[in-house]
Amino acid sequence: MEQVQDTSRPPLEYVKGVPLIKYFAEALGPLQSFHAWPDDLLISTYPKSGTTWVSEVLDMIYQGGDVEKCRRAPVIIRVPFLEFKVPGLPSGFEVLRDTPAPRLLKTHLPLSLLPQTLLDQKVKVVYVARNAKDVAVSYYHFYRMAKVHPDPGTWDSFLEKFMAGEVSYGSWYQHVQEWWELSHTHPVLYLFYEDMKENPKREIKKILEFVGRSLPEETVDHIAQHTSFKEMKKNPMANYSTIPPDIMDHNVSAFMRKGVAGDWKTTFTVAQNERFDTDYAEKMAGCNLSFRSEV
Ligand code: A3P
Repeated sequence: MEQVQDTSRPPLEYVKGVPLIKYFAEALGPLQSFHAWPDDLLISTYPKSGTTWVSEVLDMIYQGGDVEKCRRAPVIIRVPFLEFKVPGLPSGFEVLRDTPAPRLLKTHLPLSLLPQTLLDQKVKVVYVARNAKDVAVSYYHFYRMAKVHPDPGTWDSFLEKFMAGEVSYGSWYQHVQEWWELSHTHPVLYLFYEDMKENPKREIKKILEFVGRSLPEETVDHIAQHTSFKEMKKNPMANYSTIPPDIMDHNVSAFMRKGVAGDWKTTFTVAQNERFDTDYAEKMAGCNLSFRSEV
């Protein structure tokens, strides 16, 4: 009988001390031969921080606000995800080969695993950070629906793993801090999910300036409207509904789940919140980044 590979819930694999989805860890070898181009633009985030949102915003900018052009393919094809690899789907590296310049690229990698070529080529980076509590809740539901992750266990045990950096891509605390440090020496536009929620047009204008483009005011309005949570949730080219359900099961939890700031309050117990805050203060001591955990 033909042996069918079981792609469901393999344990994380550690690369240079960083836990990763098994298939993504396997993708890092081939990714060594990737060459960045100076006009590439890298979208970097810790998972669940607004990657898909800013990807749609940037593709809309690159397409001059033309919604039809942005419907040409799912976001994972329009914005190649460097370390993406799942059996049965084209890897990020394969998608990249067919992507013409100027390219938008996506990664969640910490700096220790980032291909050096991106730094050597001085590739501009749009980094989006989101408050840790909402990231933890969003990540828990993502683990539940995306079966390339190990089983998340209970919310309480997942939260412990998140605080210990024992989830895919490792420590949120380290990720947001090291990319912030990089922004002092490398062209990084460091954005916050909560700011995008508060005033999407203001943040879109920051991105436009950073990528050296300008668009009429009504096009900026149009981009803000097309990239709202409500619009993206019903857009199959943005909401990941094209990924087979054995990999992402939207019946368990939709990829476009709630899209708000402060949802952690519905999930954290008082005891979890206190414990998290104490641990947070230790891990973020000496860092001048400040996050808003509600808007
Ligand atoms: P929730 O699970 O809290 O709803 P990423 O793209 O980095 O994986 O992040 C996914 C998170 O961003 C999910 O958070 C998702 O709902 C939210 N999101 C995606 N598009 C959004 C948008 N246009 N506006 C607000 N939040 C959005």
